[in-house]
Amino acid sequence: MDTDQTLRTFTDFFRERGHETVTGTSLLPPPQDPVLFTTSGMHPLTPYLQGRPHPQGRRLLNVQRCLRTTDLDEVGDATHLTVFEMLGSWSLGDYGHPQSLRWGYELLRDGFGIPAERLYATVFGGDDQVGPDDESLRTWQELGVPVELTGEDNWWSNGPVGICGPDSEIFVWTGDGPPRRTPTTDPRWVEIWNHVHLRYHRHEDGRLEPLRRPGVDTGMGLERLLTVLQGRRDVYEIDLFEPWMRTVPSLWDLDERSTRLVCDHLRSSIVVTADGVRPSNTGRGYVLRRLIRRLLTSLYRDDSSRGLAELPRELIEHTLDHFRQTERADLVREVLLDEERRFGQLLERGRRVLSRTEFRARPLDEEDYAYLHDTYGLPRELVAGISAGCR
Ligand code: ALA
Repeated sequence: MDTDQTLRTFTDFFRERGHETVTGTSLLPPPQDPVLFTTSGMHPLTPYLQGRPHPQGRRLLNVQRCLRTTDLDEVGDATHLTVFEMLGSWSLGDYGHPQSLRWGYELLRDGFGIPAERLYATVFGGDDQVGPDDESLRTWQELGVPVELTGEDNWWSNGPVGICGPDSEIFVWTGDGPPRRTPTTDPRWVEIWNHVHLRYHRHEDGRLEPLRRPGVDTGMGLERLLTVLQGRRDVYEIDLFEPWMRTVPSLWDLDERSTRLVCDHLRSSIVVTADGVRPSNTGRGYVLRRLIRRLLTSLYRDDSSRGLAELPRELIEHTLDHFRQTERADLVREVLLDEERRFGQLLERGRRVLSRTEFRARPLDEEDYAYLHDTYGLPRELVAGISAGCR
């Protein structure tokens, strides 16, 4: 199943069950929100999950782009992405959590064609504040899906205070032979869909207050789902990344990890820029600046003549088109090239500083790296590269 079919299957399924598609999918949360970027599908809906009536009703769905910088150091492996999309469905005090689990099962099995025997669920087993989630346990047992009970892995919150609750996660077996063991004991069980029963509000002092109108919040990472549906182990092998993986390795001869990092960070930079962010030294702009500079650092490591001017316009257009963004590809390209020019000036300055005798006479130590970073904004990785070139 390709990306378009997968998206259509998901949205049609929930539309047929009375869900309205939420308008707006920007990475930028509403102005009063303290968080820099949207990190999950439910994020923009928080006030409505807390009880405010939503203008589109009580059953909602969305394909929300999200950005997570917590995993930045893991980008480059086979599964982590900085910008990804989350397929979400919500009940704002309408149907209950068991209904959500039943629909989840139906969509995975009948809509996406995942054999029932490759599914496993986990359920909250209770802690010292909240009892076990018997309702979910019963639902899975009725559906014939094996269940494992866990502790905090099945508790979801969007931060230390605010709405939260027990969740039930659905796993798919991705191993070669028949399914073995359980989700917590074998990593070949891959979590693809989380159904949260938002039942509580957590106060500053840790106290849980039951919500007057509990809701359901589900989230399923699109790229991970596609990896499973297309029988891949590596997210960069799904159809969505085909234009990237066809183009980037032919432009620049990089090792596998760097190729993935460059693809991920370039794609993320395009999306963030098209949502209106510009590189700067603070806030969102700083995240964008870091993404661009990290990818340039990977590009220049072996060959400083590489550059973003070589990036074909079609890749930018493909990305904007997929994320349904209306920004002009030329403008996005100009922002990237402009940041590359600034970075180039920084590198020039770095080379001048590092060619001073005090740095050439001895190997650089931790203090030098900290000084060069704090005073000249030179990333460590780059300093190491430049200093090797100066010797
Ligand atoms: N909000 C839940 C998550 O991000 C669905 O996993």
